[in-house]
Amino acid sequence: MCGIVGYIGPRNATPIVLNGLKRLEYRGYDSAGLAVLTPQGVQVRREVGKLHRLQALVESEPLAGNLGIGHTRWATHGEPSRRNAHPHLSETGKVVVVHNGIVENFLALREELAAEGAQFRSDTDSEVIAHLIERFLSREADLVEASRQALQLLEGSNAVVVISTLEPDKIVAARLGNAGGVVIGFGEGEMLVASDLPAILEHTRRVAFLEPRQMAVVQAHGAEVMTLERRPVPVQPTVVPWDPVAAEKGAYRHFMQKEIHEQVRGLTDTIAGRVDFEGGKVFLDSLNLTPALARRVRKIFITACGTAYHAGLVGKVLLERIARVPVEVMVASEFRYADPLVSPDDVVLAISQSGETADTLAAMEEGRRKGATLWAIVNAIGSQAMRMADGYISMQVGPEIGVASTKAYTAPLVDLYMLAVLLGDLRGTLPEAERRRLVKDLRLTPDLVGQALAREEEVMAVARAMKEVRSCLYIGRGIDMATAYEGALKLKEISYIHAEGYPAGEMKHGPIALLDEETPVVAIAPQGPWYDKMVSQVEQAKARHARVIAVATEGDELIPPIADAVLWVPPAPWLLSPVVTVVPLQMLAYHIAAMRGLDVDQPRNLAKSVTVE
Ligand code: G6P
Repeated sequence: MCGIVGYIGPRNATPIVLNGLKRLEYRGYDSAGLAVLTPQGVQVRREVGKLHRLQALVESEPLAGNLGIGHTRWATHGEPSRRNAHPHLSETGKVVVVHNGIVENFLALREELAAEGAQFRSDTDSEVIAHLIERFLSREADLVEASRQALQLLEGSNAVVVISTLEPDKIVAARLGNAGGVVIGFGEGEMLVASDLPAILEHTRRVAFLEPRQMAVVQAHGAEVMTLERRPVPVQPTVVPWDPVAAEKGAYRHFMQKEIHEQVRGLTDTIAGRVDFEGGKVFLDSLNLTPALARRVRKIFITACGTAYHAGLVGKVLLERIARVPVEVMVASEFRYADPLVSPDDVVLAISQSGETADTLAAMEEGRRKGATLWAIVNAIGSQAMRMADGYISMQVGPEIGVASTKAYTAPLVDLYMLAVLLGDLRGTLPEAERRRLVKDLRLTPDLVGQALAREEEVMAVARAMKEVRSCLYIGRGIDMATAYEGALKLKEISYIHAEGYPAGEMKHGPIALLDEETPVVAIAPQGPWYDKMVSQVEQAKARHARVIAVATEGDELIPPIADAVLWVPPAPWLLSPVVTVVPLQMLAYHIAAMRGLDVDQPRNLAKSVTVE
């Protein structure tokens, strides 16, 4: 997962930037680099692999200066290599850039720049940013204005940090969307910028966070912040505690809220390095999936607990629709007692954030006993599930601390989507054009989640109206059924309000008897194959005087007149829509629990990792 550090001040930037990058190592990366403005001009060192290799390179080819930026890279566009590692330079070397995120329109931008004669030296999307800034610099803009104009052309959720030999007294840092946070550290006569707090905490505790579409001009004595439209924003640094865990919480009240917001970045990192957007291909190397195995697989048994089980339910739809492989999903606590009909040509796929859940591990053992291939989608690196599996996909979302899982729900949805594309490709069941389209859609995901997150205040208004209810039903159909289950689980586990997820079509066979003015219904009704059916479900609930809160797609005109409140989500390709529709439900549960004054991160009776049966 990418990390950024920058320094400007009287000290030598090199060790400060390298140390900062070291503090971000836990996020994972495959290459690293730094650029320092030296008396001989800008010097860059980049290296593949771990930081000690970059450190060794810097020792053999030292560089020193008062302004420097560094980066740890998780490959998204282009393999991990020296030439693809950041920082990236513009054609003349006057502009130096590090970048987190995915520039969604980079192909179009690169073509445009190439037509103007730009020569590219890497395969990355990031390099276009350096070229674009240089293009505006050559049109007489200063660095801030050139950066501002270039950044306005980028689509997607990105964080960008820029320095230039032309203006060696400043760092320009920008946050373009919900991914890629940017924190500015205020020291004594020196300033730092970073993607994450731990990178700068040893130097200062006075920090300010950029909001989406804000940029900062950082100089040794302070920082100016403005919007991308160049409206000034007052800077008010806050003081964060030393405790690294508390510090990690940053500006958020609870870890759960932070983790909900981290999903944009988590999803960027989930896709990172695993997708070739140009070729329309997916790579999941650690899964050890050979073409022979892909063709042999008869059936996939997904097994998991809690939130991870709900991810599995979405996975069934994805794997069956995209790869045409039959899938059975079973809660792990039932798996080993059900004597499941698993054969050596089957795969048992465990999903687990912690990789230590006792029931899930026992289900894997049962799969092993029956000779199946074992796969795991796991967040905790080195966990038992990861070690036990024949192949794994790691979630890449960083540690999840809130007991109620959020970012470890959306990441496996995207992992399962990528797995479905890969399997479909290797089995020959997924036509090429379809595969290319599915892969192309992936790049939208982080930003769509960002757009859903931007509606937090609207969700809070709904939370305020719902916080006293005693019971609540969540309904959905098809791929949205799991979202209903997950929305209900989120609400019950942290707010202690009874909530049930139900397949919407089953309402009339029982649960509809519960409906009255006191029992709201949350209807998951985005545009997609089940939309019309959901509209009639909403009508049926309204006819029983229930309050209806609908999750609907922006622009929908049928839902608002019949629902009491709408939680809007941006339009999304339907196979990826569960990643987006769950976001307002996570925020709803969070705010209801926070408004009720409950211990959101550690709800009563629950544990983050359940290592007993
Ligand atoms: C516990 C947690 C849930 C989680 C489940 C499975 O019940 O409270 O949030 O979904 O365990 O955990 P795992 O680590 O296997 O994903």
